[in-house]
Amino acid sequence: MQKRTVIAVSGKGGTGKTIVAALLVKILTGNSKSILAIDADPDSNLPEALGVEVKGTVGGIREKLLSGRDQIPPGVVKRDLLEYQIMEILTETPNFDLLVMGRPEGPGCYCAVNHLLREIIDTFAKNYDVVVIDTEAGLEHLSRRTTRDVDTLLVVTDPTKRGLMTAKRIKDLVKELNISINKIYVIANRVTEPTIGPIKKSAAELGLTLIGIIPEDQNITQFDLNGRPIIELSPNSPALKSIAQIAQALELF
Ligand SMILES: Nc1ncnc2c1ncn2[C@@H]1O[C@H](COP(=O)(O)OP(=O)(O)OP(=O)(O)O)[C@@H](O)[C@H]1O
Ligand SMILES: [Mg+2]
Repeated sequence: MQKRTVIAVSGKGGTGKTIVAALLVKILTGNSKSILAIDADPDSNLPEALGVEVKGTVGGIREKLLSGRDQIPPGVVKRDLLEYQIMEILTETPNFDLLVMGRPEGPGCYCAVNHLLREIIDTFAKNYDVVVIDTEAGLEHLSRRTTRDVDTLLVVTDPTKRGLMTAKRIKDLVKELNISINKIYVIANRVTEPTIGPIKKSAAELGLTLIGIIPEDQNITQFDLNGRPIIELSPNSPALKSIAQIAQALELF
């Protein structure tokens, strides 16, 4: 078994970050890995994609504590209480666990609580072989530094020059802010046959490493239409086959 890997999925809004994160979780569950999925998008939708219900969010725990609604009984250490509450909101399934971050800290936030929460999550995440994080659209999570200590950042783009330019900006920002991320790869999603050549060319011109191409998949459209969790997508689906190739290229199995 190789060492633990933290993968974060980022990109422009609506490019397919959540789909990619959910399908990665699906692919990896078939490989006897222990997986933690983290929904770090305040506009959370990874739970639906994974077909699970959540009991609460890390943001909810923080707000309750800060509002003073959570009276800490004498003799209870704050860290222990927060740890217990995080375990309470963790969704456990036979194949993976899911943690939802919820709203980010507000301007009046007492930072020590956040620091404590982050430390608890970092320690707890070490129990898993793979951590897959679905991030918020755009670049703000990078400048707020909520995305850090990531091994692999996957930037999802649509097959457009504009999408690739966002990917390039994300790559540049990581470098500029000196964020600890080992590798950055681009995934082109919803690619149709005629766009394959141009997208490869543009990525190369921008100095981006294209790790995989996911086709437009009618099965995903059908699932969307019927509100079915994407994790139930058939293994024969073209998008899932592409994700399997990407996981292989990332040496995840
Ligand atoms: N390969 C694909 N084939 C068909 N439809 C797709 C594909 N990838 C994504 N979609 C559809 O595109 C829409 C956006 O996907 P998704 O929610 O994963 O994007 P996102 O980047 O997470 O969006 P947001 O920025 O809002 O979080 C969804 O309706 C999804 O089903
Ligand atoms: Mg999303």
